[in-house]
Amino acid sequence: MNTKAGAWRRLLGWVDDRYPLSETWEAHLSKYYAPKNFNFWYYFGSLALVVLVLQILTGIFLTMHYKPDTGLAFASVEYIMRDVDWGWLIRYLHSTGASLFFVVVYLHMFRAFLYGSHRNPRELLWIIGVVIFIALMAEAFMGYLLPWGNMSYWGAQVIISLFDAIPVVGPGLAEWIRGDFVVADATLNRFFALHVVAVPLVLIMLVFIHIVALHKVGSNNPDGIEIKKKKDARGIPLDGIPFHPYYTVKDIVGTTVFLIVFTVIAFFIPELWGWFLEHDNFIPANILQTPQEIKPLWYFTPFYSILRATTSDMVAWGLTPLVIVMAALIIFSVKRARTRLVTSAIAALLLIGFYFIEAKVWGVVLMGLALGAFFLVPWLDRSPVKSIRYRGWMYKTALTFFTIAFIVLGYLGTKPPSGLYSLLAKIGLVIYFLFFLLMPWYTTFDKTKPVPERVTWK
Ligand code: HEM
Repeated sequence: MNTKAGAWRRLLGWVDDRYPLSETWEAHLSKYYAPKNFNFWYYFGSLALVVLVLQILTGIFLTMHYKPDTGLAFASVEYIMRDVDWGWLIRYLHSTGASLFFVVVYLHMFRAFLYGSHRNPRELLWIIGVVIFIALMAEAFMGYLLPWGNMSYWGAQVIISLFDAIPVVGPGLAEWIRGDFVVADATLNRFFALHVVAVPLVLIMLVFIHIVALHKVGSNNPDGIEIKKKKDARGIPLDGIPFHPYYTVKDIVGTTVFLIVFTVIAFFIPELWGWFLEHDNFIPANILQTPQEIKPLWYFTPFYSILRATTSDMVAWGLTPLVIVMAALIIFSVKRARTRLVTSAIAALLLIGFYFIEAKVWGVVLMGLALGAFFLVPWLDRSPVKSIRYRGWMYKTALTFFTIAFIVLGYLGTKPPSGLYSLLAKIGLVIYFLFFLLMPWYTTFDKTKPVPERVTWK
């Protein structure tokens, strides 16, 4: 052994006697066995980690020059763009990172629908993921107010005033969130504090818990087979390979390609034709001038579309029959008298609510349910198989319709809600919810294929 290596070993031994460094490295990397058949879809977890780190780093440098004051905020961002050394790059990396974070997380979530990653034993891992997703939305929403552009201002005004629609407590709640009667300096200050300190801390903790939960149960894979069920004499999964060096190397390749795309956008098309940075946000906030079309950034628009599509017509001709049909379906397909009674009571309450409570409130409720539905997926999905490779046509069709509806709703959320667009959004809304509501049935009756004993791998 040469002296350099000997010194290194002695240092490592000294640290290991005082801190479980080698133990942690082995447990979570060099002796952590991951399925050997990971594919393209398995890049997005590590990419989400990369973007999280990038957002925190660029955010720290932006905070050094940004001023959370309604009189100074817009100008401080312009100052960062024009006068701070490399300020334009830091800002564009942060704004591009925000959108790409959602691209990565949406693809990461879609993978779960492909391979049943949310199913037993990964329900908690999935639930933590959904909480991360909601925290990420809160983080992006608050960050968007900070440049104090005209869309920042009006976007926050519209979204916060949604809380006004909640009966009794709504108006007080909206005022409490803003800290004023309108979006103002108090709002900007608290959003700044939450955006740069509180929510990032929560996100980091949640991501840590997410990875701990992942390493407890182990990764799923494109075949949806539990590799821990088939181990060799040493207790190592037959279809597992050490995460390090195999997947660390694979993830470096993925990260490199991703960073190339990332930097091409940040350097050459940071606004991405208004999709990543909106034109109205290059105008300072003006309480006397509403933008022609108030709309959030693309990653919120599927949910925004659901909100806008919930008109009184939609409640009468869309939601009312939907509740009646769903209640009938549940009552006829379950045997337990109590479940039937509870279903009838909930349906009756909803129908009375549809009659007496204005559509705007139902829009807010549906927007909340559109997110909340993700929590239930592990239990709504009753298929005997996990991966789409072994599922039948019903699940494949449902997932295809859901994906199209999600993208169309996202697109429509950026357009004025008139004529054909409004009708399409209503259809998209129904498809979106039917995907979740009918899941127990189509996953039960779907004709599945036999799952192989071992993972398939070329
Ligand atoms: C900051 C955001 C997130 C980070 C950094 C993150 C990180 C990761 C990492 C590193 C993995 C393992 C690698 C992989 O399977 O791709 C993973 C797995 C997983 N994540 Fe996330 N994640 C995030 C958000 C989410 C969200 C929003 C969901 C779902 C709503 C989710 C659900 C899952 C599931 C189900 C797995 C296991 C997948 C499998 O084994 O097939 N994650 N995550």
